[in-house]
Amino acid sequence: MKPLRIGLAGLGTVGVGVIRLLRENAETITARAGRPIEVVAVTARSKSKDRGVDLSATRWHDDAVSVAQDPEIDVVVELIGGSEGPARDMVETALTRGLPVVTANKALVALHGSALTRLSAENNAPLLFEAAVAGGIPAIKLVREGLAADRLHSVGGILNGTCNYILTEMRTTGRDFGDVLTEAQAKGYAEAEPSTDVDGWDTAHKLAILAGIAFQPIAFDTLPVHGIRDVTAADLTFANELGYRIKLLGMARASKDSGIEAWVRPCLVPAKAAIAAVEGVFNAVTTQGPFSGPITISGRGAGEGPTASAVVADLIDLARGADLPVWGVRNTPAPVACTSLGELKSAFYIR
Ligand code: NDP
Ligand code: HSE
Repeated sequence: MKPLRIGLAGLGTVGVGVIRLLRENAETITARAGRPIEVVAVTARSKSKDRGVDLSATRWHDDAVSVAQDPEIDVVVELIGGSEGPARDMVETALTRGLPVVTANKALVALHGSALTRLSAENNAPLLFEAAVAGGIPAIKLVREGLAADRLHSVGGILNGTCNYILTEMRTTGRDFGDVLTEAQAKGYAEAEPSTDVDGWDTAHKLAILAGIAFQPIAFDTLPVHGIRDVTAADLTFANELGYRIKLLGMARASKDSGIEAWVRPCLVPAKAAIAAVEGVFNAVTTQGPFSGPITISGRGAGEGPTASAVVADLIDLARGADLPVWGVRNTPAPVACTSLGELKSAFYIR
């Protein structure tokens, strides 16, 4: 059986996780994919760093673009991060060559999804990014495939593991914000620049992707975004005493005038609500549609294992040759502006 040959850029938390998963579950993955999936070429910033995985049989490239130009690969996996620079250059190079791309890079997809989708369609090169939203939860598959027949009213949820971890630890242990953030970084949950997490931008990226699939691309710069930096231990205690939890939510919903209402902000959630029980690094993706009704699924939203699992699921789809839709299947020519939910400020009550 001819293997699916992977060129992988980024050997950090997720990149190493992908290599480990492909090796540890090789038999199962080969059976499900119909052929072996092998990482044959890699790159990262440092060639000499010990990453705890054997890369001696793997071709090393000095930069990401040259991985995408490698004539001996079938798929590019981008796990560097960042919406510009080597990640974007590599993805554009691969798609232009007609090579399929798998990425976990939500910033890249949220900011350049429409342009990359065009490139992907023009070159008949699938662009897959299941790992970009909610780690191990198959959120993209749920919205794009499972709910393809419904016209959703809303989509969103708890989309950042670092913030949910911080809010949970602050509430349950009384530890301070900085202390818990350091722990989330050590566990590999936080972004390279953790303000992306705590100021709400990572949630906004994921929300923009979900809304782009459920509705239509949204103008990212009009999205109201408020993170958790000013949530105090006292706020968490008071909310608790009143029967609520504070969660950072990102929500998008279709409005009557055919625009999209979307925002990211800390919200008061009744302690009895299903989403209130989603604690620690767990995420929850919630949808509401006239035919499908309410759906909430939760799972680990960050970290090596869950994210690698989503990346490899995309690779299995590619190995099988599934007829994969590109992003923006419900695309409109111009991004729709988001409107903020007017009078709602830092808190919102959900039933
Ligand atoms: P890390 O910071 O752990 O790893 C990034 C990797 O990229 C490192 O191996 C680094 O090299 C490499 N790198 C940096 N700059 C370059 C460059 N110019 N050329 C080549 N390689 C480079 O990030 P993560 O693994 O955590 O995240 C990777 C992607 O996955 C990001 O887009 C992130 O948003 C996304 N993601 C992460 C999740 C998580 O839980 N961590 C969950 C879901 C998505 P070196 O090691 O030598 O420094
Ligand atoms: N930094 C992100 C989070 C990683 O904490 O959710 C997963 O996308």
